[in-house]
Amino acid sequence: MTSKQLEASVDYLHSKGFAEPEIGIVLGSGLGRMADEITDPRVAHYHNIPNFPLATVEFHSGKLLYGMLGGKKAVVMQGRFHLYEGYDLTEVTYPIRVMHQLGIKKLLISNAAGALNPQYRKGQLMLIDDHINLQGGSPLAFKNVSEFGERFADMSRPYDSAMSETLAALAVEFKIDLHRGVYVSMTGPQLETRAEYRMLRMLGADAVGMSTVPEVIVANHLKLPVVAVSVLTDECDPDHLEPVRVAEILAVAARAEPNLVKLFLGLIARI
Ligand code: HPA
Repeated sequence: MTSKQLEASVDYLHSKGFAEPEIGIVLGSGLGRMADEITDPRVAHYHNIPNFPLATVEFHSGKLLYGMLGGKKAVVMQGRFHLYEGYDLTEVTYPIRVMHQLGIKKLLISNAAGALNPQYRKGQLMLIDDHINLQGGSPLAFKNVSEFGERFADMSRPYDSAMSETLAALAVEFKIDLHRGVYVSMTGPQLETRAEYRMLRMLGADAVGMSTVPEVIVANHLKLPVVAVSVLTDECDPDHLEPVRVAEILAVAARAEPNLVKLFLGLIARI
């Protein structure tokens, strides 16, 4: 990756009217409707943005939106890139670097995840407090990484505590169930076996998914404050495991989505 590439992406977005966003948002699978809250959005399709990763066949609808959201200028990723689609970790996280270069000061991330903690129920939300990277690589493992930030990025507190506390307070205020826990990232795309769920729970994880961690690592590399929420779409109980249905995961995500939207809009208004 080079800064010239980033510049070309940013120049294109500037030409499309993406001017000085304060907030960046990543919307997870089945969680795209928050973008409807933007009045008169500017739209840039990923396949039109210079140097954006090339879309795979099943992933052609991704776009970046820009406009006023919760009273602030925001840029929203509707659809993200995953390791399991064949992108490498620098490609997966390229949009985070682009949003940072556009000028965002805070990053809000969402995802759909499986609940490992036996007290969690599907349809509930979990604020990510910390994470375990099991994707077998790092988005910072490239030759010229030090041009963009410190190679040995500090990860002692990867999630911004001020934004996390505000989000937790909003959940109480809105009477929304919000757990706080550890997210573990897997490469996927296959779901986990019962033995793997047992292992992940023993490792200390409360939720499992296939995204977010690389994005958070890059946000920390850029010293960009980040907050992340998982929508729990299924219960990963190794002793009573049902075959997973992706349609069901997306349906649960859609049902829980209004709570996520409320929390994110409330947070944006207060930061
Ligand atoms: N694993 C298990 N269940 C899930 C996942 C996952 O990666 N994502 C959403 N539900």
